[in-house]
Amino acid sequence: MKSVSRASAPAKIILFGEHFVVYDKPAIVMAINLRAYATARPERSGKIVVESKSMNISGSFTPDGAYQPILGGLDGKERLLPIYMAVRKILSLAGENMGVRLEVDSQIPVAAGLGSSAAVSVASAAAVSSLLELNVDEDDIFRAALEAERMVHENPSGVDPATSTYGGLLIYRRGEGIRRLNAKVDLPIIIGDTRVKRVTGEMVLRVSEVRRRYPEVVSRIMDSGEAIVKTGAEVLQSGDLKAVGDLMNINHALLCALGVSNEDLDRLVYAARKAGALGAKLTGAGGGGCVIALPPPGGADRIMEAIERAGGKAFITCMSRDGVKIEKQ
Ligand code: MEV
Repeated sequence: MKSVSRASAPAKIILFGEHFVVYDKPAIVMAINLRAYATARPERSGKIVVESKSMNISGSFTPDGAYQPILGGLDGKERLLPIYMAVRKILSLAGENMGVRLEVDSQIPVAAGLGSSAAVSVASAAAVSSLLELNVDEDDIFRAALEAERMVHENPSGVDPATSTYGGLLIYRRGEGIRRLNAKVDLPIIIGDTRVKRVTGEMVLRVSEVRRRYPEVVSRIMDSGEAIVKTGAEVLQSGDLKAVGDLMNINHALLCALGVSNEDLDRLVYAARKAGALGAKLTGAGGGGCVIALPPPGGADRIMEAIERAGGKAFITCMSRDGVKIEKQ
């Protein structure tokens, strides 16, 4: 066993297909250049101690899962539970019951639709696997983080931990896993954060409720989502940026129809489009969080300014080919 190990994993954006992916439709996702880091060390007390610098919370879990807060009170448990679950899963793969101390630090905005919680779980699972010098592969890390994701919301598709684990530009379908996509063009993506926090589980429930009430209507919306992904894969591969933007706009309209957009998101979407974006849509669960906008070549600054003027926080990202990785100390 090593004395310390550090790993990192990227944030994600969903280009096409959020929510539909919960119902076994495909989604196109991209890992981006914001990362979560986890450092693991053996812990003598036998507990799993988790310290999150970015959330300013720390606490420990006894081997039977009881939580003791150190910083941030009992409320911190909910935030740290996924990390604990990911670590437990890796320890059980190794047949180990030892204590681990994890320090987590992340560049990814929390509860903003960029997959911060999955990235932290993926990085934590990888740091612990490396600490124990386990022979685990990316699929094991993905499965550990997916288990953790089930603590965050009831019915996760797995798209967030998959993107964080495997990196790059991917088509993901629940139960089938990933297929890599090669875009013929660079995809600089502008992110506009509404700064409104939201809970993924609530938005997933909202969609399931609309689907329960109007099954025929919603099944057609979801079929359209699938067609967007199919055409989206083709136009990404042929490098047709204009068509990528058009499909982003159509995808946003479908998400509006399902009730997961709101005024804050729509304001940023329209600000970006008016400033020249080829396409703009919410990304992730909706209800708050972020929009993404595709700039034409040389047009990013205008769009970022427009998003800021509309009350959002704008930044530009690009694809990260790296998924989860072990960092040098
Ligand atoms: C969240 O990033 C994406 C959703 O489709 C939920 C999921 O796939 O688990 C809203």
